Amino acid sequence: MCGIMGCVGPASSDAANTVYKGLKKLEYRGYDSAGIAVTDGNAVNVVKKKGAVEKLLPSLAGLNGNIAIGHTRWATHGKPSDANAHPHRSGGVCIVHNGIIENYAELREELSSLGETFYSETDSEVVAVLFRRNYRGDLLRALAETVKLLKGSYALMVICAGEQKIAAAKYKSPLIIGYGDDGKNYCASDEPALADKCKIMTVLGDGCFALISADNVEIYDGGLRPVTAKKVPLTAVSAELSLNGCSHYMLKELREVPVSVKNTVSAFSGVESKLKEAFKNVSRVIITGCGTAYHAGLIGKRYLERFAGIPTEVQTAGEFRYTEPLINENTLVLAISQSGETADTVEAARLSLAKGAKVVAVTNSAYSELTRLATVTVPVAAGPEICVAATKSYTGQIAALYLIAATICDESVKTNILGNINCVPELCKQVIENININTLAHMCAKSRGVYFMGRDLDYAVAREASLKLKEVSYIPSEGYAAGELKHGTLALIDRKTVSVVLITDKELAEKSANAVEQVLARKGKAAVITCVKEVAENFEGRAEIVLLPKCDKFLAPFIASSAVQYLAYRTAVLRRKNPDKPRNLAKSVTVE
Ligand code: M6R
Repeated sequence: MCGIMGCVGPASSDAANTVYKGLKKLEYRGYDSAGIAVTDGNAVNVVKKKGAVEKLLPSLAGLNGNIAIGHTRWATHGKPSDANAHPHRSGGVCIVHNGIIENYAELREELSSLGETFYSETDSEVVAVLFRRNYRGDLLRALAETVKLLKGSYALMVICAGEQKIAAAKYKSPLIIGYGDDGKNYCASDEPALADKCKIMTVLGDGCFALISADNVEIYDGGLRPVTAKKVPLTAVSAELSLNGCSHYMLKELREVPVSVKNTVSAFSGVESKLKEAFKNVSRVIITGCGTAYHAGLIGKRYLERFAGIPTEVQTAGEFRYTEPLINENTLVLAISQSGETADTVEAARLSLAKGAKVVAVTNSAYSELTRLATVTVPVAAGPEICVAATKSYTGQIAALYLIAATICDESVKTNILGNINCVPELCKQVIENININTLAHMCAKSRGVYFMGRDLDYAVAREASLKLKEVSYIPSEGYAAGELKHGTLALIDRKTVSVVLITDKELAEKSANAVEQVLARKGKAAVITCVKEVAENFEGRAEIVLLPKCDKFLAPFIASSAVQYLAYRTAVLRRKNPDKPRNLAKSVTVE
């Protein structure tokens, strides 16, 4: 959600061009508008435009200076427009902001009564005005005085006419400082912007400040005391961020599903003992997350209850906090998040810790807020995921949940379960490389609505299938339990709808097959995604069949989800939608 980047180089270097390239790598955080502000220490110049970062390209030649800050926006307050694009300016001051200023309306009213004029509908513009009013030749003090007045979340960068530094502040929104190998220093919302520029970085802590110049970085705590920056490796590299010959990141990342599972399995051994310790005396587990991460949690619940016998609930993180959850020191909360920055999930984790629970994070992001908070972090080693729609990170999350359940289960069953997961990369590879989903994708692309259903683990995958399809193709869709069809959804079934029934468990095949019959009886179009040969034979000629490799029923979610995510991808492409940048969405949702 909103990508920001800053760069300070030696005098006469070209900072705008560097920031432009960095913003291009952050577009998955938002693509409603973009802008860059530049200074050479004297005047500050700004270019900002509605639309993708690329729109800035023609204006770059006019942006001269060695210090620049930039922003790519996911609109929250105010529509996508030139005026609402960042940077926001007040006199000689320019700011970029990621987060939400919750008390912006009162601040704006107060500042307006003092004669200040506002040019945008955003919550962020007040920061520029406040900073300008607080600035008396000391960047750090002005920033500290400004953020003292703010409620909400922020990662802020400020440049100011007459200054040779970027001032930065962070609270609840991510901010990293990169130490360049090229005589420049950087600041960004996340790592891809700094790929191949820096090998080390500092993850700025909540309430901290930074002053960044070309040859120095100063970090201060909330009391403005200088602190020694903890330096950690920056892992993003450009090669991993490229399309690697694929037409879209979604396709590339689907092809990386096998590696994601394999690397997550390898990385797991590093946390096994800490995890066992965290599960000591735990009588109940609550899994939480949002969107696709929540769907991974639905599968995780089944693993934990079946393998380890621990009662497990799953709640979306945005709901969790408002349900007065019954949590104590015997509760373990599993917080799942690709980015580790999703505000609802991070806040759910914070609340759980405050109530005495242990929090285990399952995340793809080693230096995220969630990792920082968690008692233990189980790494999802999916590598960078650029497409807004989650694919390989979801499969990595399921692998991590499988391993967690296997680790804490009885020794007698453990070996078998752990051995099984090693087949998953090859099974997923077979599905992604060989699946013939084109006919079904054409059916979906032409339909008025697509309904996914299944029982037990297939139901969890049906939920993910539906989310992925609507997210990238904009076709109305629902994922529900197959048994529920006759309790309402059947009313929607007609020739213009497609019902996709997932049947991967032989024991449930007969019951789930009933749903297919009911759809056909109402003249709906039907498809069956199955690993069960008999089911495929039964519906041959009556429904579209997608046959998956035969596998253990607890591994089926890996391959079935790869199949439905691929279906979503193909459908989006047939409808000429860009699956990497779905409308209105951003990859990390750092506001509540
Ligand atoms: O970074 P997170 O895993 O916490 O993100 C949670 C959701 O926003 C995310 O999974 C979203 O639903 C995906 N775009 C779905 O493809």
